[in-house]
Formats: sequence, C-alpha cells, structure tokens
Amino acid sequence: MPVLVTPAARHRRSFVEAMAEFRGEGRGADGDGSMLANEMRRHGATWDSEAGFAAFVAELVAARLEETPRPDGFVASTTLWYADGDVYHGRLTIRHRLTPLLLEEGGHIGYDVRPSSRHRGYATAMLAEALPIARALGICDVLLTCDDSNIASRSVIERNGGVLEDVRSGKRRYWIREEPPA
Ligand SMILES: CC(C)(COP(=O)(O)OP(=O)(O)OC[C@H]1O[C@@H](n2cnc3c(N)ncnc32)[C@H](O)[C@@H]1OP(=O)(O)O)[C@@H](O)C(=O)NCCC(=O)NCCS
Repeated sequence: MPVLVTPAARHRRSFVEAMAEFRGEGRGADGDGSMLANEMRRHGATWDSEAGFAAFVAELVAARLEETPRPDGFVASTTLWYADGDVYHGRLTIRHRLTPLLLEEGGHIGYDVRPSSRHRGYATAMLAEALPIARALGICDVLLTCDDSNIASRSVIERNGGVLEDVRSGKRRYWIREEPPA
C-alpha cells in the first residue's frame, strides 16, 4: 500500500509517466487553472531531466516554509506524494491557512490520483492519512471543496467525515471537524 511521502528525486521516472497520463485526459490545457496545470506550465519542459526534476522538487519542498517567497495571495503549503517505493500514484497539498479565496472555493487540501491508479481507494486513504498531518500544522477544522459534479471527490470527502456546509458557484464546501477529546 502506498504512503504519503516527501517529494524526492527517486520518483522522477514514475512521476513523469503519471504527468503524461494527466495530459492524456486534458490536464494542463488552456483554461486549466489547477495547481497541477500550473506545475506543468512551469516545470513540464524540464522535469524529464535530473537537474530539472531536482529543481522542481526543491521548489515543492521549500513551499512549506513561511519564509519562501511566493506570489501575492498564495500561502505556505505542504505537498506530499502518495508513493509505493519509487512508484508515484498521486499527490496531496495542504495549504497552511485559508485566504478569502480558499475559504470560498479552494479549501485547505487538494489532491489528484493518476488515471492508472484510480478506483483503488487511494484518494480516500490519502486524505485519511493527511488529516493528522493537517492537525499537526494547526488546522483543526479542515475545509475541502470539490465541483458539484465530481462524484468521486464527493465520495472521498464524505467517507472521511466531511459535512457539507453549502454549495457556492458550483463548488461543494465540506468541513471535517476535529473530534472533541473523549
Ligand atoms: C477524485 C480522485 C482523486 C479520486 O481518486 P480515486 O483514488 O479513484 O478515489 P477512490 O478510489 O478513493 O474512490 C472514491 C470513491 O469514488 C468512486 N469513484 C471513483 N472514480 C469515480 C468516477 N469516475 N465516477 C464515480 N465514482 C467514482 C469510487 O468508486 C469510490 O467510491 P466507493 O468506494 O463508494 O465505490 C481522482 O478521480 C482524480 O484525481 N480526479 C482528478 C482530479 C480531481 O478531481 N481531484 C479532486 C479535486 S476536488
């Protein structure tokens, strides 16, 4: 079973194959504003090389530090990869705090599972594994959002205890609240 790990150079081959799968389903195309698409635009031309991938991984790892420079409106974030040894299956990003935009539609946590690894329960397991990590970062109540039409993601969130607050601009907004101590 895969586990969440810190991104590392040893995942390069599998990661690059996974990104080709995502491109195959249209990710990274014009109009795709997802984090994955942004990474494809910024690093996709170079992450095939050892040096390019090392730079990409270093940027991802540095993003968790408050002192790392970032564009206005972006907050520190921890990205973890769901991997089995060197094999990359997916990724999950925890944003350390909410901005007005994240509160409205982005939420604390985003995730993707590569197309060839879907329907194995990985996203559900990945989110379950991430919740204690989010809590250790000081996020007690975790906001997750997904498109109203994203049946798979709805199921992932609900199976992790997500309680629907509302739907805003086609986005379902769920909270996974910290259990009070027994
Ligand atoms: C959403 C996503 C992360 C789900 O990953 P996954 O590893 O396949 O999810 P799981 O295997 O944990 O499945 C969760 C549930 O969704 C169901 N499911 C998975 N894909 C589905 C689909 N295309 N249509 C309907 N249900 C689906 C599964 O059957 C499972 O429910 P069940 O166990 O009750 O049957 C993955 O499809 C993905 O990366 N999609 C693109 C990016 C994305 O949408 N990210 C989330 C943004 S909020």
